[in-house]
Amino acid sequence: MKHLLISIFALTLSLGASAKDVFVNTPKTTLMLAVNEGQTPRIQYYGSRIKPEQAHEVYDARGLNCDAYPAFGRDSFDETALSVTHADGNMSTELVVTGCQQKGDETIISLKDKKYDFFVDIYYKANDKSDVIVTWTVIRNGEKKPIKLEQYASGVMSLRQEGAWLTHFHGSWGQEAGMTEEPLTAGLKTIVNHDGVRTAMDDRAEVMISLDGKPQENSGRVIGAALCWTGNYKLRIETRGKNRHTLLAGIDDLHTAYTLKSGESFTTPELALAFSDEGKGGVSRAFHRWGRNVQLHNGQALREILLNSWEGVYMDVNQEVCEQMMDGLKDLGGELFVVDDGWFGKKYRRTNDTKALGDWVTDTEKLPNGIPALVKAAEDRGLKFGIWIEPEMTNSESELFEAHPDWVVAHPTRELSKGRGGTQLVLDLSNPKVQDFVVGIVDNLVKENPTLHYIKWDCNMSMQNFGSSYLTADKQSHLFVDYHLGLRNALERIRAAHPDLVIQLCSSGGGRVNWGALPYFDEFWVSDDTDAQQRLFIQWGTSHFFPPMAMAQHVSASPNHQTGRVIPLKFRFDVAMTGRLGMEMKPSDLNDQEREYAQKAVAFYKEIRPIIQLGDLYRLLSPYDNKGFCSEMFVTEDKSEAVFFCYKFENYIGLESPRWHMAGLDPDATYQLTEFGSTDRRSSSFEGKTFSGKFLMETGIDATLSGQFASRVIRLKKGRVIRLK
Ligand code: GLA
Repeated sequence: MKHLLISIFALTLSLGASAKDVFVNTPKTTLMLAVNEGQTPRIQYYGSRIKPEQAHEVYDARGLNCDAYPAFGRDSFDETALSVTHADGNMSTELVVTGCQQKGDETIISLKDKKYDFFVDIYYKANDKSDVIVTWTVIRNGEKKPIKLEQYASGVMSLRQEGAWLTHFHGSWGQEAGMTEEPLTAGLKTIVNHDGVRTAMDDRAEVMISLDGKPQENSGRVIGAALCWTGNYKLRIETRGKNRHTLLAGIDDLHTAYTLKSGESFTTPELALAFSDEGKGGVSRAFHRWGRNVQLHNGQALREILLNSWEGVYMDVNQEVCEQMMDGLKDLGGELFVVDDGWFGKKYRRTNDTKALGDWVTDTEKLPNGIPALVKAAEDRGLKFGIWIEPEMTNSESELFEAHPDWVVAHPTRELSKGRGGTQLVLDLSNPKVQDFVVGIVDNLVKENPTLHYIKWDCNMSMQNFGSSYLTADKQSHLFVDYHLGLRNALERIRAAHPDLVIQLCSSGGGRVNWGALPYFDEFWVSDDTDAQQRLFIQWGTSHFFPPMAMAQHVSASPNHQTGRVIPLKFRFDVAMTGRLGMEMKPSDLNDQEREYAQKAVAFYKEIRPIIQLGDLYRLLSPYDNKGFCSEMFVTEDKSEAVFFCYKFENYIGLESPRWHMAGLDPDATYQLTEFGSTDRRSSSFEGKTFSGKFLMETGIDATLSGQFASRVIRLKKGRVIRLK
């Protein structure tokens, strides 16, 4: 199959004077480049799939003709991807094509400086199961002495269209992935993150560009781009005039000059690109499929329903209270119990957030029989067990810091600036000994608890003290990069040793949600804000690039601990069910009626879990439309089943429910509709009835939501196929 979808060229194209058009194809898209020996490689086309014989159409209509990897120093009036100080001090670079290979799904365009032994290979990798193309570069110093990379972006994409819009995401603690949509106007738009560690907490490394005006969910041409890098990054969109836009994305070029000795090379992070003519939703679905098939750890496996102890008891964990929560979870039908922060520390006990990070030994005052007794208690109840750690961090009040003060990120001449609890510090992962320590935390936990199923890997601080005791004076500017290469090295070793461990990525909530991390993680904590109303917005933004199966969404107590808002249990479940469902409360706080409802909701989620976690997401009505409503649905790949969700989170007289239009269904099939757990006083006219997919998408249904925090979940099952024409 693969060979039908990916155009495989001769192993090495022999390049002569004539133009060579190189096609990088996914099932529905094509990236076309002109690759001519002795010239700069040019991106000519990116869009719906075209055939090689259509190349002339691209040129006849005027192609994009954009330098695929613009270097600084010659004719570089526009933004550049690369800037190098060569061994002799020359700051200019002039790259031309020396070769091109296409092997399987990978295309490599080789470039060399016209005068220097300086080389760049541009890689493009096309995925055959989704419409994602990944690009990166390998930069090599063949000069005799060290050179300095000042700017080394991962890749470039260009488009020409007046009236294009940008969608990007930003936030802060408790309000991650806020969405902004704005027209692209002349000038330079920069999206940058300097946090050093939690680089998704504020601005995020993913953007969409809508070519056909204001972004639409299910129509119009859209390009999506995601930089796969956990460290500081910079995304630039340069707009010349009204219609020429160039996107450049890569590691941030501030305080990150990187020296390459003779013979050394540097591989830039991957930039993932997707094009769709089915609106933003089409790009999202491409990224979700890519996640499930390629980029997310264990992306084909269904995720378990868990209870996390954090909002239930915070740091007051002990054997008894954990067993009570396990009993409650079992009673509700859950599958996995996770003990959060507070279980560790000997000399310094983790009774609050000022101490003990780094001392990963059980606090035997809280848990006299250690973690094995908790694992046993879970297993006795037929539950799996998971545990919280924050491996990259320490507190100044810890045995670890006392033993290794030089292991923290800091310059030894400076007084330490501390984070959470007034004592938190970041460990210096550029140091291989620190990498070993971090790997050892997981190894030791698994050694002591061979059936340990799940780890929540947290990370709650920014890089506040710039400097490394490990890196030499001339390499201090490598820290922002080497920290993350060190992290990646540790994660690779952990994954090689523990491929089946489920690991959640957490960083004060969603502070590290990035495709560069997800090859090592099964899921991520979307936000510390579990308020169902705010979650509608946070989850809406997050789902633009990240698959619902990886989005940890927990039902928590009411009033909500972050906002104080009171929201009915049904609404809280309905919001949490659109991702990986979990709970974060003391089940014993539920009254009998709520407990009964929660049992039903958990059982229902088990039924729809494959549709949510492995199906396609169609966002329908955006909460950002300021209408007080929101809806989305999930459809299996074969379109035989679907689940539709709608929510009302405002309430005033005259606020009328919209007509709900569905998407993604087979227009020629009929679907039977059944609603789950309706508490609405008005009965639904659609209950148990069948409709054609076309009718549900075009005409839609009227399903009134009355009162505030009303919601509906409607399950669709395909019946007969009727040809309407
Ligand atoms: C972070 C996480 C929370 C919780 C606490 C524990 O804030 O995001 O979910 O684990 O740390 O200290």
